[in-house]
Amino acid sequence: MTQLETSQAVALPTGDLRFPDDFVWGAATAAYQIEGAVDVDGRTPSIWDTFSRVPGAIVDGDTGDDACDHYRRMPQDVALMKELGLGSYRFSVAWPRVRPDGGPVNEAGLDFYRRLVDELLAADIRPWLTLYHWDLPQALEDAGGWTNRDTAHRFADFALSVYDAVGDRVPTITTLNEPWCSAFLGYTGGQHAPGRQEGAAGLVAAHHLLLGHGLAVAALRDQGAEADLGVTLNFTVADPHDPADPADRDAARRIDGLHNRLFLDPVLRRRYPADVLEDTGDLTFAGRPWLEVVREGDLALIGAPIDVLGVNYYHGDAVSARPQPQPSDGVRHPERPVTTPYPGTGDTTFAGRDLPVTGMGWEVQPDGLTRLMVRLHDDYSPPPMYVTENGAAYSDAVVDGVVDDPERRAYLEAHLRAVYAALEAGVDIRGFYQWSLLDNFEWAYGYGQRFGIVYVDYPTQRRIPKASARYYAGIAATGVLPGDPAEGSLP
Ligand code: FCB
Repeated sequence: MTQLETSQAVALPTGDLRFPDDFVWGAATAAYQIEGAVDVDGRTPSIWDTFSRVPGAIVDGDTGDDACDHYRRMPQDVALMKELGLGSYRFSVAWPRVRPDGGPVNEAGLDFYRRLVDELLAADIRPWLTLYHWDLPQALEDAGGWTNRDTAHRFADFALSVYDAVGDRVPTITTLNEPWCSAFLGYTGGQHAPGRQEGAAGLVAAHHLLLGHGLAVAALRDQGAEADLGVTLNFTVADPHDPADPADRDAARRIDGLHNRLFLDPVLRRRYPADVLEDTGDLTFAGRPWLEVVREGDLALIGAPIDVLGVNYYHGDAVSARPQPQPSDGVRHPERPVTTPYPGTGDTTFAGRDLPVTGMGWEVQPDGLTRLMVRLHDDYSPPPMYVTENGAAYSDAVVDGVVDDPERRAYLEAHLRAVYAALEAGVDIRGFYQWSLLDNFEWAYGYGQRFGIVYVDYPTQRRIPKASARYYAGIAATGVLPGDPAEGSLP
């Protein structure tokens, strides 16, 4: 393990910045967040259909039933991407459409993704396919979900079904989006579906998710897949609140371990980090030490070579071992009680810093992205990396038919400068995907949090590109981030 960096900011490069010619400019979405049409063409419920009906689990009781109606409006949405000049679109496939209840293949569900891929290719937009962005078939959860090893095998079967349908036309296939969230928000903290709050269940789920990744990669390679294969992980930059305090430093190490290295080390080094195993060694699931779920051969599968690493970054954390004031952040949180998603971390707390925050209450810390990319490069020698998600929610309003969102534009600019700083430091970053193309169902926060560069008027489903979309389109068209933010936007 390397020494943790402390919180000194990295100076971001200023002026006009020219990105590499082949740098990919994209936007990302996820199936449950945009598709709607939850009971159409054979789709059966996912854990999010169920969880969104649990009282208090989602702000305002929102569900993904209708979302952005993308299932029906897909051709227009692809046309919009083309208008914005996006080079690539990262989307996910709804498992319960393709294999309803986790069972046999449903061609009607696959057809949607065949059409989507065709539409993208016709528009000269490179598809980036994510197999799992959190919508596990409820029937598989009823059989134990990600705490059941069999789910990993079902996932590999699902991966093959998707590959059979579109694998020859999709240049990049990633297995999981953010397994940290699936495992620890889903099975330890209860913030996300399936909403279980069972301590070490998150660790068990994490292992089975990683195993699913490994099995799927092996199965796709067996089929002779030519696509780049990989996974998207979400990272924090865990800094000790007080770098001089050994207890805070140790708390930051634990969070870095559970959030970052628990996933990075098995995927890129074929082993779990020793300190995390030590910290969690006495935690049990179903009466047995959780580590017993790791079987011989699992890590060889999980750590098989990948071609790309997707990096999602929103913010870092100042971590402390001591109680910290938790001032009200003014954000509407779900009412259902939840627990810490970090099993075995005891009294660890997160301290606020003197940083601006987004509508989610997340700190704006672009230099963390530079530090993260440089650290990944230095510590892990990863395959080529893409920033597969970065973006911000702000309270947008339509005024005279226009959505001006200077805060999102500033957020975007700062994070692109952070990416550029990492490129300058020699890190191999091939592209950037804005989260998100459209305002959408922001999980436990429902529709109140708008992350899109395109505004969605939900009652009419009208799409209105925000000023940030025009700004991003200008950068995508020229490959240049203008020094003067007043310049460069497409009309
Ligand atoms: C990420 C998720 C994505 C979206 C953003 C804001 O954790 O992958 O679906 O919710 O956060």
